[in-house]
Amino acid sequence: MLSPNVVSRSEVLQHLEGFLKDNIYSFLKRVEDSWQPADFLPDSRLDNFFDELKLLRERAAGLPYDLLAVLIGDTITEEALPNYEAWFHELDDINRDHDNGWAQWIRGWTAEENRHGDLLNRYLYLTGRVNMREFEASTQHLINDGFDLGMAHDPYKAFVYTSYQEMATNISHRRVGQFARQAGDDQLSRLCGMIAGDENRHARAYKTFVEKIFEVDPSEMMLAFGQMMRNKIVMPAHYMRELGVEIGKTFGHFTDAAQRLGVYTSDDYTDILDTLIQDWHVASRTGLTPAAEKERDYIMALPDRLRRVSSRMPVPKLEYKFKWIS
Ligand SMILES: [Fe+2]
Ligand SMILES: [Fe+2]
Repeated sequence: MLSPNVVSRSEVLQHLEGFLKDNIYSFLKRVEDSWQPADFLPDSRLDNFFDELKLLRERAAGLPYDLLAVLIGDTITEEALPNYEAWFHELDDINRDHDNGWAQWIRGWTAEENRHGDLLNRYLYLTGRVNMREFEASTQHLINDGFDLGMAHDPYKAFVYTSYQEMATNISHRRVGQFARQAGDDQLSRLCGMIAGDENRHARAYKTFVEKIFEVDPSEMMLAFGQMMRNKIVMPAHYMRELGVEIGKTFGHFTDAAQRLGVYTSDDYTDILDTLIQDWHVASRTGLTPAAEKERDYIMALPDRLRRVSSRMPVPKLEYKFKWIS
């Protein structure tokens, strides 16, 4: 282990680049081995297309309102992918030469993520339950509004964020899938499961990056982790809105619906933190500067504090009529 303060972020990322390049296909799947949205949707070239479509719509007709709203919100979040890629390119100290491991990762990750929005968007269109124009306008708004995730171009903070985020999307896609199955839509359940599988693999990648950084630059990594938790991890779609609605307002209704259903709750937020603390061996990290030790103690105490707060928070009751559903 290098001694604290000796190593710079760009050196650490350089060190990680070789590891990433050597292991890229344990984190990404080759195109040839990847599922495609078309694998899960009716083929419009075939004679049975209209029969398949009819079945799809019958199954989707049974999806509860809140579940459909959450699925649409999740899809809009996925559809804002251009923002996430652009944001990746704004990170400092990452070498993005074409054959570099980081460049390969950014392209490969984006290419995998791109299928998520495509699949969900096309499914929603086929259900016949979605006001596509309103939905598309929300997507355009979200990309146009961008986001501020409090990372200040710092890759250490960014990888804490993406570790969190990939785990959160894994949970929410998986839960939507479970609820869809309960509502009788096995097809939707299957496609949510495929997406959740990708998110899980991505989470593993980002968690590994952080773990590797902890090995060589523990104090700075701990400070970055602590700072992200102090700021709170905001969801990338926190500016989500509908046409004629104030910025971020729709997002509040979307998270209320997710909380009400149990698709993604404040307890999930804390459970993810628990997992990260464990996976990154935060409790037993040594060789830290005094400031980083203080930050470690803050992080270790945080899950209990969050649980106390969330037990006092009522589950939001108010139902909202989204413009996306008509
Ligand atoms: Fe995704
Ligand atoms: Fe992902």
